[in-house]
Amino acid sequence: MDGRLLEDFDRHIRQKGYANRSEAVRDLVRNRLVEESWAEERGKAAATVTLVYDHHKMDVSRRLMDIQHHHAASIVSTTHVHLDNDNCLEVVILRGEAEIVRQLAEEMCALKGVKHGKIALTTEGKGLA
Ligand code: NI
Repeated sequence: MDGRLLEDFDRHIRQKGYANRSEAVRDLVRNRLVEESWAEERGKAAATVTLVYDHHKMDVSRRLMDIQHHHAASIVSTTHVHLDNDNCLEVVILRGEAEIVRQLAEEMCALKGVKHGKIALTTEGKGLA
């Protein structure tokens, strides 16, 4: 690796609070491997979906509930926080076949009335050292 790149990497490591380069490199490699398994959508996977929506609007609460009941086998847990009079924050944890997990996560984010949806695609961990 050339000097300039290594300097930038060391600055990144310090900002992120890594103890050393090895730990930072391990994290980069693991992230890449998880991304690749998602690109190929192979096997079992896990994900979290974070949703912010106004529960008064677009019938969004009921439609979210319908989706979650319809796919109960893939939904591990849902946490709901009432942010203020109108807005709700919901975090949904999913696991199952990667293809189904992704479709379900995207379906929830795309619901009309969802102001912000964020998906974190992760792994069940077994395939990762
Ligand atoms: Ni609420």
